[in-house]
Amino acid sequence: MNLLSNYYHNEIIPHNSPHVSSDDIKVVSESLRTSWLSQGSAVLQFEEQICKYLSDGKSENQLSGVAVSSGTAALFLALKVLEIDEGSEILVPTYACSALLNAVYMAGGIPVPVDVDLLSFNPTVETCANALTAKSAALILTHTFGVPVDTRKYKELGIYIIEDCCQSIGSRYMDKNVGLEGDLSVFSFYATKMITTGQGGMVVSNDSILMDKVRDLRDFDGRDIYNPSFNFQITDFQASLGISQLQRLPLFISKRQNNTQKYIDAIGDNANDILQLGLDDVNTNCFRFVLKLGSKMEACKAIFTNNGITCVSPIANHELLHRYLKLNIDKFPNAEAISKSVLSIPVFPALTDHQVTRITKVLSNLQI
Ligand SMILES: Cc1ncc(COP(=O)(O)O)c(C=O)c1O
Repeated sequence: MNLLSNYYHNEIIPHNSPHVSSDDIKVVSESLRTSWLSQGSAVLQFEEQICKYLSDGKSENQLSGVAVSSGTAALFLALKVLEIDEGSEILVPTYACSALLNAVYMAGGIPVPVDVDLLSFNPTVETCANALTAKSAALILTHTFGVPVDTRKYKELGIYIIEDCCQSIGSRYMDKNVGLEGDLSVFSFYATKMITTGQGGMVVSNDSILMDKVRDLRDFDGRDIYNPSFNFQITDFQASLGISQLQRLPLFISKRQNNTQKYIDAIGDNANDILQLGLDDVNTNCFRFVLKLGSKMEACKAIFTNNGITCVSPIANHELLHRYLKLNIDKFPNAEAISKSVLSIPVFPALTDHQVTRITKVLSNLQI
């Protein structure tokens, strides 16, 4: 074995990496050559294509999208157009990205973290109902790590629902894509999301009044009457990358699902006990492959690391939203337990067959 092949066989597998094809590079170059570098026709086309994808090509609902600079910006704008009163309470799952807190505060709301379910890592309707007060205005519902929830059930809460699909584009519930049931839905196209525009996001809804407001808030310029506004736009060359990536989303999902199935097979009989939720339970895009390892977490992390496989705690204990807000940790037992016991291993579509084999070998020898 020469030096190069030795490197190839022992190389460190990253936790995540984008899938950038020669077609992606071609369309971005072509976009740059048009000299139209800012928001233009490609952004419009990207918005239309995301809506077409989400509605399975059907045009009966008036789904509309507004591309923005990030998932955080999309969350902020979704909250802003709901015109919640200053100090309104916004329910957020505590096992979630801190972007949720940031968006709520920036929009003038008060975040109210709720605990999550041990199996799905999403909050249940009951937990959300128990957190309701007279000031509750909205719930940001994440489909955590791509595992979809039945958004329709949360409508019983009688508050606005923002579906946070930043991790879950392509996951389905009751034969429909996630993101079609909330008052508004938000998406992220950050570098390591299901599809990427480098940085980027989108707000989607079939409420044309809300969407007109989002569109208006995205731009700072060209107003008849001045009112303070910001700039949340993305560029045409980013949108061109998004359009190209979107064409491969079905391929990305099937690669992630295939990798997931190989990992489940390698783990064997007790896979159901140590996974967030298996492929059999829900139609997930397999955004993450998360192992619930309990007290064996640190030992398993060392085994993966020693085998050159990067694994991470997807949301570390100190990052739980209730911890950031210095709330009583005893009120969030499930999120506390999950954050201390789970590891996420590489499942991204750019993994080579050889890398997948290396990972399955480690999984099949893991004593769990
Ligand atoms: C669930 C969730 N919401 C919101 C965000 C924020 O997205 P962005 O990084 O594009 O601002 C992320 C991503 O990091 C996320 O995972």
